[in-house]
Formats: sequence, C-alpha cells, structure tokens
Amino acid sequence: MRGLLITFEGTEATGKGVQVQRLIPWLHERGHTVCSLREPGGTPTGEELRHVSKHQPNCMGMDPVTELLIMNASRAELVRKIIRPSLEHGEIVLCDRFYDSTCAYQGYGRGLDLSLVRQVVDAAVGETKPDLTFLLRIPVEVSEERRRRRNAALPFKFDRFEAAERDFFLRVHEGYDEIAAREPERFRIIDGTQTLEEVQARIRQHFLALTDSDPRQPFKETVPAANSPREHVRFSALPEPPQKPQHVFVK
Ligand code: TMP
Repeated sequence: MRGLLITFEGTEATGKGVQVQRLIPWLHERGHTVCSLREPGGTPTGEELRHVSKHQPNCMGMDPVTELLIMNASRAELVRKIIRPSLEHGEIVLCDRFYDSTCAYQGYGRGLDLSLVRQVVDAAVGETKPDLTFLLRIPVEVSEERRRRRNAALPFKFDRFEAAERDFFLRVHEGYDEIAAREPERFRIIDGTQTLEEVQARIRQHFLALTDSDPRQPFKETVPAANSPREHVRFSALPEPPQKPQHVFVK
C-alpha cells in the first residue's frame, strides 16, 4: 500500500522543523513507519547542493535560474532515491519544504516566470505530489524577530537566503498565500504564532482527518507489536554510503 507524502511549508523561522520532530514520535506510537527529510538536502548530493545554495559565501551573487536548477537537482535526487521508495514501502514521508518552496521563493520571491518554475519542478518530481501540505503562517515581523533571537543564540553561519531584504520575504509570504488558495484541498493553513503545542495539535487533527477519510484505509490506527521496529530510516535506500558523515541526510 502506498504511503503518504506530507510536506511542511512557510517562510523563515515558522517552526516547521520543530513541528516535524514533535510529530514523529506520535506517528510511531500509532504504528507508522516514518521517513523525515528536508529540502534542499536529504541525500548526499542534495546536502552538497544545500551547502552551495545556502551557506557558501562565494555564491552570494548566484543567478535566480541557477538557484531554481540547484533546488530541483536536489529534489530530483531526493524523489528518486528516497521519497518514491519510501512511499512504495507504505511509509509516511515528512518533508520540511518541497516544491511549493520553489514557487514561493524562486517564483514569487526572485520573480522568475512561474511557467518556467513549474516546468523545472515537473521535471524534478514527475507524478510525485504531496498528499497533504501544512502552511505555517507567521507575519514577516515575527519571522524577523525569531531569526534575530535564533541567530543571537547560535554561532554565526552564513545564510544566503536570510541575507535577502524584507521585500523578498514579503513576496514569498504573498506567494504562499496564492499557492495555498489555488489548492485548498491539499493545503492546511496554520497560524504559526500559536504556541508549539497548539500548532502540533492542529497538525495531528488534520492528519487524523485525512487518514480517517482515506478510502484506501491503510492508516487506521494500529497498536505496534512489542519490540517491533518503529522506524526504518531509509539510508539503506541509498546506493552509496554517505560520503561525509557529519551531514544530516535524514532529519
Ligand atoms: P531551511 O531548511 O532552513 O528552511 O532553508 C532552506 C532555504 O532554502 C530557505 O531559505 C528556503 C530556500 N528554498 C528555496 O529558495 N527554494 C526551494 O525550492 C527550497 C526547497 C528551499
């Protein structure tokens, strides 16, 4: 039975990563096998591309079309090496960002032609589309304040996206609203200024609503057998071993 692809979207510092981490043990308790990923990244090639696109100061002046292609090169790899095999194994794939990020950031944010963006995304993902997408929404001022606090607490790490001006993030924000409005059956919009617990409760409610209404019914709650393996992190799906163990391939 095919699994489910659930994606998490939003501008910077919406708390997507924390929500994914909180969702995983809850899904395990319900007997699901979970594969948790991030974009760009999630494969050895993807993590290298993530570094180039995000943290490499030499790449500050990267052309938006190059950025579009890098994001989708990483995605093509992730879809083929990890996401499709995981779905075929019936797993729940949680992805921190997917192609809606490309429409919002490279399309609306950088101003690339949306039909070009869609063509490149189509080449990367083919028929692999999310079953459910959570859009965590916070005002740009809240995003800026959270980033300020986060950056003050962490050692400095160059981030090409965070160096962008406020107008860029306003366009990304508006882009997400338009993208979500076009596909209301896939998107669940959640107010990301709520507490972590409130946001998590909403996510769980929506997950249960989706799986309870799925006519294929593969995800009715089951109690896992004692000592059953709860998680199969899909490193085994990778043909080559990780080259640089310090990289996080699977969140
Ligand atoms: P994050 O993992 O901390 O969210 O960083 C990823 C950055 O990459 C974030 O600024 C959004 C950006 N991004 C794009 O511009 N396009 C994309 O397709 C994806 C997946 C991410």
